[in-house]
This record gives sequence, C-alpha cells and structure tokens, in this order.
Amino acid sequence: MMSTPPGWVVGCLGGNLAKQRTGAAALALPAEVEADHEHDHGHSHGAQIVPANAKEAAFLSLIYRTFRENDELKTAYQTLLGQTVKALLRCLEERDPYTYGHSMRVMSYAMLIARGANLKESDLRNLEVSAMFHDIGKVGIPDCVLLKPGRLNADEAKVIMQHPTKSAEILGIIDAFKNAVPGARHHHERMDGEGYPDKLTGTQIPLASRIILVADTFDAMTSTRPYRKALPVEVAYAELERYSGSQFDPEFVKVFLQEHKKLTLRLTPEEAADVLKKAA
Ligand SMILES: [Fe+2]
Repeated sequence: MMSTPPGWVVGCLGGNLAKQRTGAAALALPAEVEADHEHDHGHSHGAQIVPANAKEAAFLSLIYRTFRENDELKTAYQTLLGQTVKALLRCLEERDPYTYGHSMRVMSYAMLIARGANLKESDLRNLEVSAMFHDIGKVGIPDCVLLKPGRLNADEAKVIMQHPTKSAEILGIIDAFKNAVPGARHHHERMDGEGYPDKLTGTQIPLASRIILVADTFDAMTSTRPYRKALPVEVAYAELERYSGSQFDPEFVKVFLQEHKKLTLRLTPEEAADVLKKAA
C-alpha cells in the first residue's frame, strides 16, 4: 500500500476537506499544486492541504513525490551541464592556453556590453555561452596554423577561417546550447558584409555575434602575441571607433567604450580585470 506523508489523518469520508490532522509535520506542497487545489476548491490553505480520504492522500503524495523527483532531475541536469562546460573549456585550455584565456576575457567584455545595453535575461545567457565558446572550433585547426608564431599566409588564413563553423558544429551537438550556435558561427561577420563565413550584413548578423566581434577585437588588440606587442588601450578604443559602422555595430562600440571607460577610470587594471571576471 502506498504510504502517506507523515502527519496526515487518512480516511475522512464525505468529499469535503477534513479538518483533522495530527500535530506532526505538514506536507509542504509546491506552489503549482496549491494553486490547482485553490482553483478546484475555491479556497486556499496556505502551504497545507488536508486530504479528504485515503485516495486523495495517496494522490497528493504521488504529486508531491513527482515534484521532488523533477527537482532532483533538474538539479542533476544543471550539474551535468556545468560539468560539460568545464570539460569543454579544459579541452580548449589544454589545446591552446592563449585561446582559452582570450575566450574568458571576450566573455567578460561581451557581458559588460550586454548589461550596458540592457539585454534581456535569455539573450544574456545565450550570449554568455556563444562568447565562451566562440573559438572552440580552433581545437580542430592544425598546430602549424593555430600555433604559428607569425602572420598567416593566404592558405593558412583560409584554414583558420574555418573555426567559426567548427565552433557552431561543436556547440550544436549539445541541445541546451542550440540557441548559442548562431552567435558563435557569425562572430567574424562584419556590418559591411566583408566578414565570414556567410558575408551577412548589418542586422542580418545575430545580436550576440555583433557584440562578440567588438569584445573579440578589443581583446585581440590589447593582448601581446608572439608576432606583436599589445596596443595601448587608448589606441584600441580609437580603432574600434574608426571601424564603427563598417566592421562593428556602432551601438555596441558606443556601449563598450562607455562601460569599459567607467571601469578603468575608477579601478586599477588588475581590479578592473577582477570585476570583469566576476561579472561574467
Ligand atoms: Fe574567432
């Protein structure tokens, strides 16, 4: 026989809600169940429902268990997703520590823009994943191109230009990340249609990709690479402004400059980096 929750008096007949309960623990039902009950019976008992009979008690117990099991499944799913993210990032870090660090910084800058532009919560979450994994496709680029300590020739450039589609393919494998795929695939498209892989223009380019391009370019310019030194931040700002409209979405250049300047005006570079890291 199905057991009932502790504290319930079972077997009260008559169809009306029984008033008897023992003084033991009440059954705390999820809000959805309570709302259904209120709808059916026209009144509410707060978080406590007294079953009228054994059948109703068994039914409530079943609903309660189902909600609890759903919560446990949801938690397990979230944990698994978190572990998947960590495993993918670890693969990227093992393959190319620079690209891993770059991806983390791009995500921080992208979130800075997104918050400054008041993006809605669902766009923020998709952008976060797109930005974090925008370059994950570089794991599929041969070492001689990916790790070349100098400028790439035309053939090598064609190879590296495959990375956004590879990023999209990898992200697309995980159902939960499907909405982050376009943001990663198009992060090298330009407003004037001179980008890749699909030569999209203006607002044809996903919002996330337009944000990532600003963040990505700023980080590339302000990072030291084997073939050139990092540019000063002021020079990088000027470059973003110079190509605003042709390469970058002007709105996101404006928001980035405004938000980044706010941060760097009041904080040391180390403190600003720390704030960005925590904000992402
Ligand atoms: Fe990229």
